[in-house]
This record gives sequence, C-alpha cells and structure tokens, in this order.
Amino acid sequence: VRVAALIPAAGSGTRLGLGPKAFVEVAGRSLLGRSAAALAPHVDEVLVALPAGLDLPEDVPARAVTGGDTRQASVRALLRATRADVVLVHDAARPFLPGAVVGAVIAAAREVGAATAALPVADTLVRAGPGGDCGTLWGTLTPREGLWAVQTPQGFRRDLLLAAHEAALTDGFAATDDAGLIARTGGAVRLVPGDARLFKVTTPGDLALAQALAPVWDA
Ligand code: C5P
Repeated sequence: VRVAALIPAAGSGTRLGLGPKAFVEVAGRSLLGRSAAALAPHVDEVLVALPAGLDLPEDVPARAVTGGDTRQASVRALLRATRADVVLVHDAARPFLPGAVVGAVIAAAREVGAATAALPVADTLVRAGPGGDCGTLWGTLTPREGLWAVQTPQGFRRDLLLAAHEAALTDGFAATDDAGLIARTGGAVRLVPGDARLFKVTTPGDLALAQALAPVWDA
C-alpha cells in the first residue's frame, strides 16, 4: 500500500499578518518544514501545495504543486497529483505532530476508509448573538458531551476522498476540512485521539505558544 502525505500550505496567513503562513519560522524552522519532516518517515512521498510563484525551500523533503484559492482547492490539486492508495492530509500550520498520531490515523484510514485526529471539547461552547453578545442563546446550546474538535492529520483511501472532492465541486459545497466532505456523503469517519500540541497556528497568540513549545519539542 502506497501512502502519500498531502500538505496544503498555500494559505496567505492573513490572520497572522507575517506573509504566507507556511513559511513563518518557529525557533529557526518553518511551519511547513516542521510538518513535512514529521510526516516524511511515515509515508512514501510528501506533496505540498504552495502559493503560486513560491518555491519549496531546500530543506523541505517534498514535491510541490501550485495550490488554489481555498484550502479545498489546494487539497484537490494535491489529490490529483498522486497515485497513492492512502493519503494523509495535514495542515502546514500544525507543526507539532506526534508520530503516534500519524501511525494511528494511517491505520484507521486503511481500516475504515476515512479517519481524523480530533480531541474532545473541554470548553463550554456558545453561539454568540449579533455583536458578540451571547444574549438569550445561552440556554439553547448543544451540551459539549460528544463534541470533538477536529484536527489534522486526516487519512483517507485516495479514491474515496477524490470522489468526495469531485462531488463537492459539482455541488458548490465548501468545507473547512476533508473529513467533512466524506461525512456529507454519509461516509463513516473514525475519530482518532489527537494531541493538544497539534493546535493550528492561526493567530499571533498561537505563534507565541508555538515559540514557547518549540525548544521543548526540539530537545
Ligand atoms: O486558513 P487555515 O488556517 O484554515 O488554513 C489551513 C491550512 O490550509 C494551512 O496550512 C494553509 O496554508 C492551507 N491553505 C491552502 N490553500 C488555501 C488556503 C489555505 O493550502 N487557499
């Protein structure tokens, strides 16, 4: 069975404000370099979707394709560029990726067809009213029991995910992750315990956390 890691890294990093996010460095290594290095030992090939006009840095062990306008379009481009049987989709923006999670997601994807790293939600979730006011909505919320926060990596049999992407494209359906495209068609997705360190570097606060964690992680 051939396994490919697909890394969407074509985002602009607007919320971070430091240029294309995948190229932002934490303790001397880019988010993309960290993600690719964590995946490489577990897979047969690593493919990265980059913003148009940008090249892969020399220290990233991967093959590059040009990404799209959305994460979904970038993953679609990656899927079309590999013939692997199983694909592992992982955000460049989640640089701290434990090997045990990679192995567990690959195993679950081979067994079920689709799997994602995820963590049970610890916080109470509320939907804000207009202006950020929780208002009267507070009492009507879904209890957090049974709610999971979805991370990456997500693993799939490639033919399954490709079909889900083509169907979403035809229907004009947009999702923020790939497992959501499988679930939409009624397909099963196995939840695999993720890791708190797999947080996505999105805001300046996340970058501060990443900078604090990196020396411990690298040691
Ligand atoms: O924007 P967000 O943080 O959700 O992006 C998640 C991942 O998807 C990032 O690694 C980002 O580089 C990637 N992405 C992409 N192509 C886009 C937008 C985001 O590959 N057009």
